[in-house]
Amino acid sequence: MNNIFLVGFSGTGKSEIGPIVSNILSYKFIDLDTEIVKYFNKSIDKIFSEDSEEVFRKKESELLEYYGSSSQLVIATGGGAIIYNDNYELMKSNGFIVCLEATPQTIYNRLTSEDGKNEIRPVLKDNVNIDSITNIKNKRQKYYAKSDWTIHTDNLTPYQSAEEVSKIYKTFVNLDTSKFIQKDMKADLAGIVTYTNGVCPIYSGWDIYKDIPKIFSRLNIQGNLFLISDTNVYSLYGQEVEKYIASTGKQVFSHELEPGEHNKTFDAISNVYSWLAESKAQRRDTIVALGGGVVGDMAGFVAATYNRGLGFIQIPTSLAAMVDASVGGKTAVDLPEGKNLVGAFYQPKVVIADVSTLKSLPHRETMEGWAEAIKHGLILDKQLFEVFENRYEELLNLEPNLTTDVVKRSIQIKAEIVSQDEKETRGIRTLLNYGHTIGHGLEAATGYHQLLHGEAVSIGMMGAAMIGNKMGITDSSILERQLSILKKFDLPISFNNITIESIKSAMSLDKKAVGSSINWVLLSEIGRAEVNSNVDNSVVDSVLEELSS
Ligand SMILES: NC(=O)c1ccc[n+]([C@@H]2O[C@H](COP(=O)([O-])OP(=O)(O)OC[C@H]3O[C@@H](n4cnc5c(N)ncnc54)[C@H](O)[C@@H]3O)[C@@H](O)[C@H]2O)c1
Ligand SMILES: [Zn+2]
Repeated sequence: MNNIFLVGFSGTGKSEIGPIVSNILSYKFIDLDTEIVKYFNKSIDKIFSEDSEEVFRKKESELLEYYGSSSQLVIATGGGAIIYNDNYELMKSNGFIVCLEATPQTIYNRLTSEDGKNEIRPVLKDNVNIDSITNIKNKRQKYYAKSDWTIHTDNLTPYQSAEEVSKIYKTFVNLDTSKFIQKDMKADLAGIVTYTNGVCPIYSGWDIYKDIPKIFSRLNIQGNLFLISDTNVYSLYGQEVEKYIASTGKQVFSHELEPGEHNKTFDAISNVYSWLAESKAQRRDTIVALGGGVVGDMAGFVAATYNRGLGFIQIPTSLAAMVDASVGGKTAVDLPEGKNLVGAFYQPKVVIADVSTLKSLPHRETMEGWAEAIKHGLILDKQLFEVFENRYEELLNLEPNLTTDVVKRSIQIKAEIVSQDEKETRGIRTLLNYGHTIGHGLEAATGYHQLLHGEAVSIGMMGAAMIGNKMGITDSSILERQLSILKKFDLPISFNNITIESIKSAMSLDKKAVGSSINWVLLSEIGRAEVNSNVDNSVVDSVLEELSS
């Protein structure tokens, strides 16, 4: 039953992408709607009007069951299939479910194009406009979210999407996830990053360091371990982590960095290189980063470069590092000329995020970490955002179960995005930059001293929402909801004592700017973002003016 089920709204490309996937994998392609049309010998419209939707759905389920029991099929399902009857269970037990995603705007463009007209389903009949697409899609989103994997097709050609489906399917079929987990482990597999040369499992859970030996044995970690931390984190968790690593019979050497962004320098890196040389580190050895994003970025850069590459493991201890920095393989060092100017893409072998370490993280650092997790909800997951809205008190109190769940979901979102756009070349990873254009401008304009990254992103998200609002893309209610959450998490929503000119000049130097126009990430709804490079300078100016309190 190694089938692939393609689910997703009309216009996300199931019928077009399915045959290409079937070609790539040499599987047979089945379009469920076409089969139903053949069976009744009339169009779906007619089945709905002359028989009933129920008749249609019944046949749909029967066919799903029938084909599901075969194998090596790529099955495109109708947009509503996953919602009805026990179809989800049928698919789940008979194959791998991939949801093809697109924003309502993309769907609208595709459905109203010449080729797309015959894709219009009864549910949208006579009603193809962005609002109706958005409404119906919103109602279905919680079902689509149960898929094993989601692919954002907005910026991909059908062939690229099909390659993506095949790649992820092959990875998961060959990847026996049971290899990563064991019954007696407390750590859960929060996500998996798939990249060109392999996969990186991400574990998370509350109080999971005791699982380190099991995780190491599952991943067959060789050689000696070189633990890099900062003095704050090492004093809290260093010895515990060393103890668990040593219990696997491996030798552990440790090095403590001075904490803080201002120490993310080549001077510090150079000391680490010397320490590795003195300790006779070899290529088969592994660097372990234990700490926040600064430690992770620096240790990752060392792992990528020393001896042309050592093994690398991330043990993030700050919220920002768990939900963001440790996932995705970006490593970096600052220069006096700018932040993160030198770096490399270098994927860790594994990420182990023990959420219980957040108990010792200072309040401000915790809140800035929430900013990135809230961002994940805003751009891609309405339900995650609603958890922030409805259960913020438990999150502010770090209630173990809920906090772990939210961190896991956030990690999963980041893992899925970077798996589809490892090196930020396909525009998908760009969505993660929501709030970062103004955010980076603010950080640079203040010399990285005044605001923490997540705080700058919080103000940046307000800026992006206001820009979206002025352009008619972001509804005022979204702006209000975002504002209210950011306030609850003690995050700043405006700035003072920073000149607008300095922010603007820093923004045009931002590496995320492409050519002269900036790629803005704007919200079209909660859980949906889009990239827009047509934002008028005057709109940016007036928003910066409003943000300056
Ligand atoms: N590589 C990426 O994709 C990526 C993404 C986002 C951010 N970053 C980088 O991450 C850095 C920011 O990360 P950060 O916010 O974690 O900063 P950080 O590493 O400076 O950590 C913040 C502070 O918290 C302390 N700390 C960390 N965990 C702790 C714990 N559990 N208990 C007590 N204290 C703890 C640290 O010692 C530090 O003083 C920036 O340099 C940024 O550029 C990288
Ligand atoms: Zn960020």
